[in-house]
Amino acid sequence: MNKANDVFMNTYHRLPVVFTRGEGVRLFDASGKSYLDFSSGIAVNCLGHNNPALVDAIKKQAEKLIHVCNYYQSDVSEAFAEKLIAVSGLKKLFLCNSGAEANEGAIKIARKYSFKKYGKNRHRIVTLTGSFHGRTISTLSATGQDKFHENFGPFTEGFVYIPPNDAAALEKALNDISVCAFFFEPIQGESGVIPLSADYLKKAAEICAQKDILLIADEIQCGLGRTGEFFACNRFNLTPDIATLAKGLCGGVPAGAVLAGEKTADVLEYDHGSTFGGNALAAAAGLVVLETITANGFMDEIKEKGAFFADKLDDLELDGFDISRIRGAGLMLGADVSHEDHGLLEKALEKGLLFLGGGPKTLRFLPPYTITREEIIEGISILSEILPKTA
Ligand SMILES: Cc1ncc(COP(=O)(O)O)c(C=O)c1O
Repeated sequence: MNKANDVFMNTYHRLPVVFTRGEGVRLFDASGKSYLDFSSGIAVNCLGHNNPALVDAIKKQAEKLIHVCNYYQSDVSEAFAEKLIAVSGLKKLFLCNSGAEANEGAIKIARKYSFKKYGKNRHRIVTLTGSFHGRTISTLSATGQDKFHENFGPFTEGFVYIPPNDAAALEKALNDISVCAFFFEPIQGESGVIPLSADYLKKAAEICAQKDILLIADEIQCGLGRTGEFFACNRFNLTPDIATLAKGLCGGVPAGAVLAGEKTADVLEYDHGSTFGGNALAAAAGLVVLETITANGFMDEIKEKGAFFADKLDDLELDGFDISRIRGAGLMLGADVSHEDHGLLEKALEKGLLFLGGGPKTLRFLPPYTITREEIIEGISILSEILPKTA
């Protein structure tokens, strides 16, 4: 059990459990104990564990071709790219390996677009306080949370932070002629499931269009069908200039993507790349994810199951448990508890339920899309055993 601490650097506080296999929404530890997984590896295992179609595609692709470098072409990588473009409604994409790498790509594209049109002074990127965009030096710089900015500087320059859902602050920040992009998570994940409002995003899109400022949506946690729409932005009929995806994109095989619309599709000119990006194995897995989530009625089911889940959380609140302010959309839900540390993740683990924290007091739920209503009820019942009562 303690082996992990001997070999891994101190990056994660790992809970005392060793998983050896998974099946659907359940994970199993070395002793065979079963856990309901309402975290999906932080929104990665979107089709659940050991999904037959996904496993079959990965097996078959591994027997044919795992990787060719990007100096050549691969049939499956092209098929994946074509499908992703068709589903997203954007024009071209760059494939990579992680969320941070996708966001790095988006930042480079935004700056180059603006430099070429308006000169090198137009480099600033407005982001939001409470955002999380990754762990590289530039994506940490884009991340509007002080706690991530200790000890690793100097950071990439040119990021400006404003509070989310504050239209006046947004208008003021975008009035600066050195701003080239507004970069945001439509629903902030890491800081506690904080959705941006429809009005706020519409305002942002309006100003950005007027000033030729690029609208960059970090859809890494909230996109890919999680809200019941392909992009969380699509809930408000909004199409960003650039969108980034990762996490569930290839169902657990590491992958990321930068998707660009008309304005920025051809900004890169053989000046960016990634060895593993769009690798045949990841692409084969990604095709299964895209085919599954675009099947008739699949995303509607996500919306309906999400509403069912939110209602059940709401019932807990009415029953006097210490849980309130239920937020989110589809199967990305958060609810606050009143104290910072109840040890709830550990208590839930003991009872066989996994979920995530977010911000100081938020319980964050990101279950696989394949979750059933019975599994939601089962998880909520475990929650009711561990949540303190309010009175
Ligand atoms: C919204 C968002 N952006 C970017 C990232 C970084 O992704 P990765 O860890 O794959 O680099 C994350 C990861 O949690 C995220 O939630």
